[in-house]
Amino acid sequence: MEPYGVPLANFPLKYRPDDIDIVVAYDVDESKVGKSAYDVAKSLMGDQFPVPQALKDIEVRRGIHLGSARGMPYSAKGLEESLGLEGAVGSLIDDWRSLGVDVVVNVMTTEKGEAFGSAAALRRALESGGAGLTASHAYAYALAEHSARRGGASFVNAIPTPLANDEGVVELFRSSGALVLGDDGATGATPLTADLLEHMAERNRKVEFVVQFNIGGNTDFLALTDPGRNMMKELTKSAMVEDILGYDAPHYIKPTGYLEPLGDRKFVAMHLSYVSFNNAVDDVYVLARINDSPALAGILVDLTRLAKIALERGIRGTAYEVNAFYMKRPGPAGSPAPSKILAFDALKKWLSASS
Ligand SMILES: NC(=O)c1ccc[n+]([C@@H]2O[C@H](COP(=O)([O-])OP(=O)(O)OC[C@H]3O[C@@H](n4cnc5c(N)ncnc54)[C@H](O)[C@@H]3O)[C@@H](O)[C@H]2O)c1
Repeated sequence: MEPYGVPLANFPLKYRPDDIDIVVAYDVDESKVGKSAYDVAKSLMGDQFPVPQALKDIEVRRGIHLGSARGMPYSAKGLEESLGLEGAVGSLIDDWRSLGVDVVVNVMTTEKGEAFGSAAALRRALESGGAGLTASHAYAYALAEHSARRGGASFVNAIPTPLANDEGVVELFRSSGALVLGDDGATGATPLTADLLEHMAERNRKVEFVVQFNIGGNTDFLALTDPGRNMMKELTKSAMVEDILGYDAPHYIKPTGYLEPLGDRKFVAMHLSYVSFNNAVDDVYVLARINDSPALAGILVDLTRLAKIALERGIRGTAYEVNAFYMKRPGPAGSPAPSKILAFDALKKWLSASS
């Protein structure tokens, strides 16, 4: 296939897209665990998109659950139920050591989660299976341990749980010689809204309000009908408004609904109203149908390569220059969420300067 949707496909990076070797996948859905990634993909997509034969060799193994699929319409079971949490983390580390894993990518169902603030608090929660601990935290912790034992590994957090935005996680990663990129992959309408806001800011137009919502029919949209999970998306999607405009224009930016027949092609609507010269009020409307999963997959091709390249360049903790372009809420905590146009330019300069 042509690498459309892979932002750095034509930029000379050390690793090409086809250098990525997927070695294992994890899930907690009983209907997926034990199958090959090929069989799972085929059962979800049928003949809609080509599914690579190579995925027949990828086994979907049982992951850590910690309640992440609670309320979803399938039965879920985690490794921790048979091994305990410590045993489950140990089992992942063993897998990753024997498979020589460089990068772990987190694309599990959106979960409700908060920052721990310190590596010690995160460690305590893991040791006691404590409150606030999410599956993402457990996977990230396992990656940090894996990294400490083998001298480096990276974690790409494409979901909203704050990991690159958690000083505790970043501190843990730095001290383990690891790198975390995050949080929440910037795809679909959110980066487009960011760039439209930049356009308004550069012309000194006063944005009166921004409304942006989407409705989809995949399981992520079903999960997002839960208010706790939805709030996580609202937080990562809204981070940019004040950062780009310099003031907090009234906004409503979140996924609003689930409608099964829409499938993976979500419906997106946006309305942006602004004041122009001599108090003229203009409006921009955008309507779109966007294939949700391919949009994320394209940027994961870059993020996986950059996660390894940044680590090889000695970067530990997190890498803002990468996060600023690829993530809705770029870590570390407190960093601005700039427009994607400016962030892409800065990323290319950063890559050229540090190569
Ligand atoms: N365009 C996009 O698709 C996009 C963009 C940005 C972020 N994301 C994020 O990526 C994630 C995945 O989105 P999706 O549309 O592929 O969702 P999905 O529901 O199709 O897939 C999520 C998968 O994670 C599995 N899962 C749930 N809990 C798990 C756990 N504890 N361990 C391992 N697997 C687990 C589910 O069983 C399911 O197979 C979501 O968190 C979403 O917010 C998606």
